[in-house]
Formats: sequence, C-alpha cells, structure tokens
Amino acid sequence: MGRKGTISAIETGGFYARERNVTSMSHDEFPTDEPAVVTCGLPYANGDLHIGHLRGYIGADAFNRALETLGQESIYVCGSDMHGTPVAVNAEQQGVDPEDFALDWHEQYEETFPKFNVDFDNYGHTHDETNTQLTREIVRTLDDEGYIYEKEIQVAYDPEADQYLPDRYVEGTCPYCGAKARGDECDEGCQRHLEPGEVEDPTSTITGNAAEYRERTHKFFEVSEFTDFLTEFLDGLEGTSNARNQPRQWIEDGLQDWCITRDMDWGIDYPDDETDDEDDLVLYVWVDAPIEYISSTKQYSERVGTDEYDWEQVWKGDGEIMHVIGRDIIQHHAIFWPAMLEGAGYNKPRGIAATGFITINGKGLSTSRNRAIWAKEYLDEGFHPDLLRYYLTTTGGLQQDVDFSWDAFQEKVNGELVGTVGNFWYRSLLFAYRNFEGTPEADVSEEVKARIEDAIADVRESVNDYSMRGVGQAATGLAQFGNEYIQRNEPWKLTDDDPEEAAQVIRDCVQIAKAVGVLIEPITPDKAQALWTQIGEDGEIADARLEHALEAPPRTFDEPGELFEKIEDERVEALTAKLEERVEAASDDDEESDADAAETESDDTDASESEGMTDTDDLEALAEDRIGFDDFQELDIRVGRIESAEGIEGADDLARLEVDIGFETRQVVAGIKQLHDLDELPGEKCVLLANMEKAELFGVESNGMILAAGEEADLLTTHGDADVGEKIK
Ligand code: 2FM
Ligand code: ZN
Repeated sequence: MGRKGTISAIETGGFYARERNVTSMSHDEFPTDEPAVVTCGLPYANGDLHIGHLRGYIGADAFNRALETLGQESIYVCGSDMHGTPVAVNAEQQGVDPEDFALDWHEQYEETFPKFNVDFDNYGHTHDETNTQLTREIVRTLDDEGYIYEKEIQVAYDPEADQYLPDRYVEGTCPYCGAKARGDECDEGCQRHLEPGEVEDPTSTITGNAAEYRERTHKFFEVSEFTDFLTEFLDGLEGTSNARNQPRQWIEDGLQDWCITRDMDWGIDYPDDETDDEDDLVLYVWVDAPIEYISSTKQYSERVGTDEYDWEQVWKGDGEIMHVIGRDIIQHHAIFWPAMLEGAGYNKPRGIAATGFITINGKGLSTSRNRAIWAKEYLDEGFHPDLLRYYLTTTGGLQQDVDFSWDAFQEKVNGELVGTVGNFWYRSLLFAYRNFEGTPEADVSEEVKARIEDAIADVRESVNDYSMRGVGQAATGLAQFGNEYIQRNEPWKLTDDDPEEAAQVIRDCVQIAKAVGVLIEPITPDKAQALWTQIGEDGEIADARLEHALEAPPRTFDEPGELFEKIEDERVEALTAKLEERVEAASDDDEESDADAAETESDDTDASESEGMTDTDDLEALAEDRIGFDDFQELDIRVGRIESAEGIEGADDLARLEVDIGFETRQVVAGIKQLHDLDELPGEKCVLLANMEKAELFGVESNGMILAAGEEADLLTTHGDADVGEKIK
C-alpha cells in the first residue's frame, strides 16, 4: 500500500512517494547569510553502533554536505551521550565504572563514524569540561530567571537494593497507553516521555522486585510557562511534519513541568549542590545531552577561531540550527529543548527532521536478538560505505521506516549505483578518453545545459525540503538521462561519419558525468571524489558548489575505471542466511524475552516493501488481473466532507475523523496525524470507501476508509460540483 502514483487507503499510515517535508514560510530559503549548524541526536555511549544509528548520522551528514553545495556556511556537530541510566545500567552490568565505560565507547564511535564518511566538524561528549560548565551555566540561568522550582514527588525505590530507581532502573506500565514502559519513556507504546512516579506497577530492574514509592524533593523546570512560545515556535518550525504535529497535540493536552534531577551519582551535579554527600542530585541526562549541541559548536569555534565560525552568533544570534533526530525523541527536541533555549536566552532551532526507524527483513531491529546490521559487520564485509549511505538516504522518505534486507540492498546498489550512475560514468568517460583523450572541445548543448539546470533546481528544492532522498533522486535521474542521451545519439556511429557531432555528444556526456558527481557528493562522497579525479579535476569535490556542475571539465584525463561493482547473488544469499542464523541463535537464547520489542516498531508501515528511485521504479506494479465493471460497482466510494479531525491519544500516526457522506456521518480512523495539520481539515472534501469492513484501531472504530496518494497522504477529493454523498462511478 502507499506507493507513488497509487491510491492509498489511509488507515494505518505509511506512504511512499517523492518526499515533501513541509517547510514554513517564515525562513529565508537556503542558502542564507547566517551560519548554520546541523546536529544529530547523540548516541548513548553504551554499545556497538548499528544501522539504526547510521541512518540518522549519515542522513544529517548528507544534509550538511548538501547545504554546503548550495553555498550555505554550515557545520555538523555531535558528541557521545555519556550520562544517564542507559549508560549507568550497562556499565553496572559489566561491573565497570560508568566514566571508563562511556569513554571507551566514545572513543570507538570517534573511530567508527569517519569510516562511513560521517564527517563531524566537532565530535565531543557530554562529560567533557565544555559541556559540564555550559550545562551548569544554563541551569543556573534558568534558576535565576525563576523557571526552576522544587517539589516533593514520589520516586521509585528498591528496598532490597537500597537504592532509588530512576529511569531505566524501573519498569512498569505506561499510564497513557497501558504498554510496558521504562521509568522515563513509553518505549514500546506511545513513545511519551514519562515523569518520575508516573509508571504504574513499578518493578526494579536491579532485583526484579516490586518497587515502592518514596517521597523525595526534586527540581522542576517550568515547561508549562512556555506554552505560548512553543505554539508559535512550532508554527515556524521546518523539517518533518511529525516534529510539529505530535508536539502540537501534547501542547493541546496541556504541558506538564519537567523533573530535571535524578537520585544517582553518575551525571552532572545540579549546580547549587556542590557537596559530595549521598543525597546529591544529578541533572537528568536529557538536560545536559542537548546542551552538547552547543558545547560541540563552541569547541569547533574555539578550534578554528571565532572569526571563521562564531558559535555565539549561531546559538545566541540568528544562526540556522537544524536537528536530525529519531522520531522517538521528538518531545525532547520540540518541547523541552526549545523551552530551555528560550528560558536561558538562546536562539531556537529552525528545523527538526525526525526520521523513522530501520527494520531488518521486515521486522523490528533488535540488538538483543542480534537482528541488526552492525556498523563493524558491514565494514568487515568489505562493502564501501557509500553504498550504505546511498541505500539509507534514498530508500523511503525521512519520516518513513526503512527496511533493510541484503536483497533490497543488492537491488538498489546493482540497479541504481552500478546500473545507472556507474554505468553512465564509465561508458561516457571511456568513450571520451578513447576518442578524444578527455573532454572534446565544444560548448555544452542547450538541451543538456537545461537538463543539468533542472537537476540543480531539484537539489535546491530538496535541500530546502530536508529531503536527502530528493537529492539522490536528482543525481540518479540525471545519470539516467545521460544513459538515454548517449543511447539516443549513438556517438559510436558518428565518430567516422560526423566527428563533430560525436564530439558534441561526448562533450555533453562528460558534462553530465561531472554534474552527477557534484550532485551526488553529499550522499556518496568517496565515489564522487573518485569521479572528480577521473575527469582530471583538482582538489576536493566536497568544495564544489552546485554551479560547478555546469563548469567545463578539464580538457584531458586518464583512462577511467569502473567505480561501482555489482553485488553477486551468491553473496547476498550467504549474507541473508548468516543474518537469519544469527537471529535464530539469539532468539533461542532469549526465547521468553520480549524485551527487544522495546526496539521494534509497529508493523503498520510498508517500509519493507519500499524500494525504487526513478519515477518508473517508484510505481507500484500495475495489477495484471483486470476486474469487471461489476467488481468496481461493489466499491461504494463516496464524496465526503470532513467535519472534525483529532489525533488519537497514544497512537503516533492515527487521527479520528468525522466525515459527512450526505445521509450520515461516519467516524473514520486514518494514518494522517503526522502528515496533516488536523485543524485545517474540517470543511475539506474527501473521498471515502464507504463499504470498507469496519475495523478498530487503538480502541476507536473506523467505519470507512479515506483515500489518499503519496507519502504525505495527499487526500483525494473532487474539484467540481459533486455533492457530498455522491457515489463515485
Ligand atoms: O535517545 C538517545 O539515544 C539519546 N542519547 C539522544 C540524545 S539527543 C540530544 F538531545 F542530546
Ligand atoms: Zn504509552
């Protein structure tokens, strides 16, 4: 369901088409005159990196590179998230000091990211001096401004372990949706952040005993004071629609203040609490973690000099701040974080792009079941990092879950990188080299110039839409055009009869090859650099701007080589078998455990099916079996008018709509919560399949199915005088 060009029934969400992440009108288009910073959610320094992590870091890296090709001054910063129970619990399990444990992982991450061409301008960590000082300073400011207060709360406690149980030390039931939840997050259900004391039926993860609640005094940040600010902030926020729509719902439900301290030793001490006694409170990890975005920028500034890049201009002035995150941490980035920034007198983010999750062979990624593709494993297999970069950035839109299977990886690499891009580069450059020793002397034809200009425009638009998939599509689409162009003009037939025309065709092809390189660089930087060198260009393609795609390549170059290699079927079969074996072995060890459901995502996406890049590939195969008119008549499709639309509490994607179909009003559940501004839907005409079987989703009956197309759930409608209730025939 839900491919480009098909009509999608929106009951469960999941759409696939050209990515359009709605952008607001309140910002100037990129490139702007202000310096930018791109960040990606900090990885907890607590375990091996896997493909789920890589999707975000690679996507943000590609975004930063693409901004630079537009001429935007931009840096990419990140760091390891060293504190909190995710680190403390794992360190404790291994019997090591959390600082040593986290530093060890931090160093491994520093080594691993560059191997995927993830090129951070600064990679720090939350425990370093810069972040410790800045965190304390920001918290002090919030305190001075009157945004922090103390309150007695109930905190889970394990009498046997004689320990308070913050966050991951306690598990229980989510009070909002009833799913199994961790102390501070409903990770298996509605994804909400949970406050201390909220989780029901608490159990200690240390002893497995039922926890008791004890009274403690903690510090609270008055998020509720920022309701108006946040409402306005979300209206101007760019990026993916889920980063705006979900928080709007939370605001509507009423914002709670946020407990920002924890009873534990590992973390940054609350600033007014300098003593070392047992009762010291540390800051909740989610306070100091995002501050690392600023600290990391500051470290970069200090390294290169503020004349070159001024962190204060960005974070306290008018810089462009863009966060790439997983969709499970939207609340922290679109509610808590901007409120903290505002309260402490900092600039607010311009955009938040919240990505979907990765599934493996159609199932949720699970580190405990070893159903993951590990960063190290991928590299050990000897695959070039650019192949994975291309796969992860161009398979599915940002908000969608993306399925990884070795089969799909092979299909994408062989089809698009080997078959389209690599094939075009090699055949055109080889022909140019053999017949002209490089770039023939001629001007680029008007047709080719115009086609390259179109591709450049697509890249600009895609970057402004936060769509790295769009960037990849623009590059691959241009290579596809190059293949058609060379095929159509058959220069091999012209070399003897019309050498001038042959020179023209090949001149055009070399220009297209160069342009594809410039356009694809953000996604496959090494391969683009190799192409750059092959056509005799000096320096780094990473420094080239989009306009360079139209500049003439050097007159001569050496014999080119092939830049992409086909992945053979046997290899894929072996890799798939190995993965399945591994998952099975881990499941045997862990049969009773369903803990990994925490890392799984709902099955209601079509990510596992999503593939393809070019428009034609994108189209869902047309059904071979024809149906008769009578069959069509069985579908009772009606014109409707939406009367009301509201999000379903606890469901990420679902909305409850009341749809007037003339003779009655239907309640329908549709997967559009993240994709539409629900307030704007009442009054809109729509098309409803009225005799769809009834279904119940999140306890809400759905009596009909709204029709839509595309990944943004473009609602089908009528444009003339068809009345509400009219049957479509
Ligand atoms: O969810 C996580 O993995 C966190 N470590 C992300 C932190 S992002 C940020 F705000 F620092
Ligand atoms: Zn929940």
